[in-house]
Amino acid sequence: VSNHIKFPQVVEPLSTLLADTYLLATKTHGYHWNVTGRHFVELHGLFGEQYEALFAAADELAERIRALGAPAPAGLAAFTARSKVQVLDEGLAGEDVMLANLRAGHQAAADSCYKVIAAASEAGDAASGDLATERAAAHEKAIWMLDALLA
Ligand SMILES: [Fe+2]
Repeated sequence: VSNHIKFPQVVEPLSTLLADTYLLATKTHGYHWNVTGRHFVELHGLFGEQYEALFAAADELAERIRALGAPAPAGLAAFTARSKVQVLDEGLAGEDVMLANLRAGHQAAADSCYKVIAAASEAGDAASGDLATERAAAHEKAIWMLDALLA
């Protein structure tokens, strides 16, 4: 058994992306529970799809970190220490505040994706680069949808 960590310079930004993704998943899950108003059905449904996709992505990112031989950060304390995604906002916010907060979270996660892509390209870690590229597209799609709802 080797303790060697492959591409440590990629593990670092990947860990931040994992933290962003997980915190955004928990925030989206809380909004799925607490959203109210005329758009309840649409927003409850959209947030439901988004949190499921985000939790699945967090799992994939954590397992990529493990495949590189590094420990995956876990737990809300570790994630909040690493991420720019604000976790402690009001679960009972109005829908526009929810949409804007989620948009900011997806933007932070997209920014982290591009840091992984740059580090992975530098290191020759194509698999992590592919994963981050796929995640960047997903976050940008979410931003488009949230913007369309805010418009
Ligand atoms: Fe549900």
